Amino acid sequence: MPASRRGSGSQNLPTGQTTLAMHTRTQDEEDLPHATKKTMVDHLRKYESAFTLTPQRMRMITEAFKDTLEHGLKEYGQIVPMIPTYVFGWPTGEEKGDFLAVDLGGTNLRVCLVTLQGEGKFEITQTKYRLTEEQKHGDGEKLFDFCAECLQTFINTNTPEDGTGLIKPGQELALGFTFSYPCAQERIDHGQLIRWTKGFGAHNTEGRDVAAMFRTSLEKLHLPVKLTALINDTTGTLIASHYVNPRTKIAVIFGTGCNAAYMENVSEIGKIDNLGIEKSAQMAINCEWGAFDSFQHEHLPRTKYDQIVDETSNKPGEQAFEKLISGRYLGEILRLVICELTDEGVLFLGQNTYKIEKAYSFDTAFLSLMESDPTEELLMIIGIFSHFFALETTLAERQFFRALARLVGRRAARLSACGIAAIVGKMGYLEEGCAVGADGSLYNKYPKFADRVHEGLQDIFGDKGRNIVTHHAEDGSGVGSAIIAAMTKIRKEKGIYAHV
Ligand code: BGC
Repeated sequence: MPASRRGSGSQNLPTGQTTLAMHTRTQDEEDLPHATKKTMVDHLRKYESAFTLTPQRMRMITEAFKDTLEHGLKEYGQIVPMIPTYVFGWPTGEEKGDFLAVDLGGTNLRVCLVTLQGEGKFEITQTKYRLTEEQKHGDGEKLFDFCAECLQTFINTNTPEDGTGLIKPGQELALGFTFSYPCAQERIDHGQLIRWTKGFGAHNTEGRDVAAMFRTSLEKLHLPVKLTALINDTTGTLIASHYVNPRTKIAVIFGTGCNAAYMENVSEIGKIDNLGIEKSAQMAINCEWGAFDSFQHEHLPRTKYDQIVDETSNKPGEQAFEKLISGRYLGEILRLVICELTDEGVLFLGQNTYKIEKAYSFDTAFLSLMESDPTEELLMIIGIFSHFFALETTLAERQFFRALARLVGRRAARLSACGIAAIVGKMGYLEEGCAVGADGSLYNKYPKFADRVHEGLQDIFGDKGRNIVTHHAEDGSGVGSAIIAAMTKIRKEKGIYAHV
């Protein structure tokens, strides 16, 4: 047992009794054995080399990534599955009408009514419902029953009998189901869950058609809806962003999970040759790139902290790329470094560290807050450590924590740039340039994340990297889902590839 860590949390009284350390001191007091500034700087150097990615290494990762993407288009069953979505080409902007969207992808369940008004305009009304841990890990059928119940509540609320509501009594609506986990699709309203990600683990679901499961739940409640399309959040984001900004060619999500989608030429998707789709057509591909380098771990620079995150996750070996990048894991990576230094007796001697020892207790939002602390004394960091972990810190320690957050956050952004660069390279977008619609808490809330992605693109491509610009995406899971439901309805009515 690491003496320093346990010893720090307890003190022996002369009677032999053990008592917890008190936390009434302030950081100005000198009696706690804090690490010196020099010690922290020395430690930082060690972590700098573990977490820093050189431009050369980034180019190597990008190349390997590109090969993986190409491979996934040719054959089924690849680690990065490159899933054909049956979303054919771009929206025209003229899609119109009312559509429902249910979005199951992370912390919340969201139900939306989207009115597409044409010319790239829309209105949206939505309600969010919190998912419990029990629902995420309980029985899959119950999870879909809950989704259907929330949809029922939403429809009832918006359909007053006097006909003055957003939904008219008797109106049947097309429903887009945004389900942001990897699903192998044989057609647009079907999807077999390959694996849960982002810590979800509802049983009785992997390997099954989640669209069919949801349809069963909808039928139980006799809801006036038709599940028209099963959509990944990235595909929705791609379509919604292009709807308002036609320069958008790629969509990425950097949130609890991470992933990308882009529009591919059907002639390049060898594995669907047998479907009789014209080679000149285009189809959106949901890359599921979070799985890059899973199991083999050949290409990505994993530190021992990344390995621990992986081994202690509910899905060891899987989602290797995602585990270095996404919001679900960054806080945990940083926490593991802090715990290592606590074990070594460098940090928090004489203090009780049980709170920070708890897995996943260090939220990724803390990294953003630490990086953006504007005060010289780093008051925000004092607050985080004292309020959430009952720990006192010195300025030198706080500067170290901030630098560490920067290393972990910067590595995530630079790896993300490698993924974007792989798609850009594959599609030949570098010269003409393109816009990349980006969404997710990391992209939207982490300071400098976007700048670091852009800087990474320049490290990979040189000056031309400036031609690739990310921008905050439109609401893919709501608006995107509605546009796709509309596109699908039009396509099927016209009998275009009606079998998929
Ligand atoms: C899922 C993807 C999703 C991404 C972002 C990943 O964990 O596998 O389907 O697009 O998270 O939500």
